[in-house]
Amino acid sequence: MINRQEFARRRRALMAQMEENSIAILPAAPERTRNRDIEYLYRQDSDFWYLSGFPEPEAVMALIPGREHGEFVMFCRERNREMETWHGYRAGPEGAVSDHGADDAFPIGDIDEILPGLIEGRDRVYYDLGRDLEFDRQVMNWVNSIRAKVRSGAHPPGEFLALTHALHDLRLFKSAAEIKVMRRAGEIAAAAHIRAMKAVQAGMYEYQLEAEYLHEFMRNGARAPAYPSIVGGGKNGCILHYINNDQKLKNGDLVLVDAGAEYCNYASDITRTFPVNGKFSAEQQALYEVVLASQSAAIDRVRPGSHWNEPHEAAVSVLTQGMKDLGLLNGDVNSLIETEAYRRFYMHRTGHWIGLDVHDVGDYKVHDEWRVLEPGMVMTVEPGIYVAPDDETVAAKWRGIGIRIEDDVAVTRAGHEVFTSDVPKAVADIEKLMKKNRRAA
Ligand code: GLY
Ligand code: MN
Ligand code: MN
Repeated sequence: MINRQEFARRRRALMAQMEENSIAILPAAPERTRNRDIEYLYRQDSDFWYLSGFPEPEAVMALIPGREHGEFVMFCRERNREMETWHGYRAGPEGAVSDHGADDAFPIGDIDEILPGLIEGRDRVYYDLGRDLEFDRQVMNWVNSIRAKVRSGAHPPGEFLALTHALHDLRLFKSAAEIKVMRRAGEIAAAAHIRAMKAVQAGMYEYQLEAEYLHEFMRNGARAPAYPSIVGGGKNGCILHYINNDQKLKNGDLVLVDAGAEYCNYASDITRTFPVNGKFSAEQQALYEVVLASQSAAIDRVRPGSHWNEPHEAAVSVLTQGMKDLGLLNGDVNSLIETEAYRRFYMHRTGHWIGLDVHDVGDYKVHDEWRVLEPGMVMTVEPGIYVAPDDETVAAKWRGIGIRIEDDVAVTRAGHEVFTSDVPKAVADIEKLMKKNRRAA
């Protein structure tokens, strides 16, 4: 869990980077309709949550470094006995102060009267335009209401600045408490993959295997997956964002499952590819070993001092050599890499930052150079090979095989730590786990 002191530390770190005489304004995520008057399960905006830990919609926070009467001001829903009976607990402005560290808090209904007064006299407004058009308009209205009063001496802000750069750079470096939560998110997702390897049977629907994941996530306190789970049997494993998950799993096919849990708002992101009947075929194993070796080479490059692209380059090199050895690609390995011929079978990148968002924030390049890895950064490493079912450039035996192996890896002082290593990925280990269970079943 992230404690109040840590949220306060984050706000201080951000405010220390804000220009003099400025204000930052951040809205909570809006509720989103799923059908008619029913909303999706609410998820707070990651930036808003990172700085406040405040879990409710209809809230706005203002950070005003140096403000005498308090630097952290929250606007939120008032407590309301009837609404709380129907929809659940609200902190109210009182709770925003007592439980979430706000220096000052007001009902959200009063924001039009109060916030322009907080903006007035500040030279700069940190606000991310273009993310929420509705809220953009509100911010403009507040600023315009100050501009309308210049003749009576009002001082409107002269500049809008993006908050994202400083804030997202803070979010890129995970604290000890964040690492602990992310380790747990990884363990929960790993347990779910183990459970699925034990449960899978030919004839099952993909969604029935997905149910094993959701149950394991939830019973461990991860109330939602970090993203819609991908459960692709056979050739469906070649569709990168396959989420229909409505086909039957077949004897002799692999199943590719990309499923991660969201725990305390932090994501995990694991892919495993395993045989529906518990045993890899010769072709499946041959391709799988190439992907596994490429992942291992990429994970080796995750260490302080490597740059962001090194794991990807290592993966591409092993994948290309391996595909050439198996006859999927022909020619000189260096030129296959240079001409990106490997992209026919490996068309995505080897990873992304991960944190509060599954594809987390943070720059991948600094001044046009790949970013150098430092302790506290967490990324996924997820190479794959996908041979389209209708790819006539390769022998028929390879067609329709899709494989990805994905783990979550933190950069540490000594090198790296894999958060998701509990779930096996070596062929022999997967087959052993699946066989043991089959015999017992
Ligand atoms: N599950 C999304 C990804 O692997 O990036
Ligand atoms: Mn994934
Ligand atoms: Mn991923």
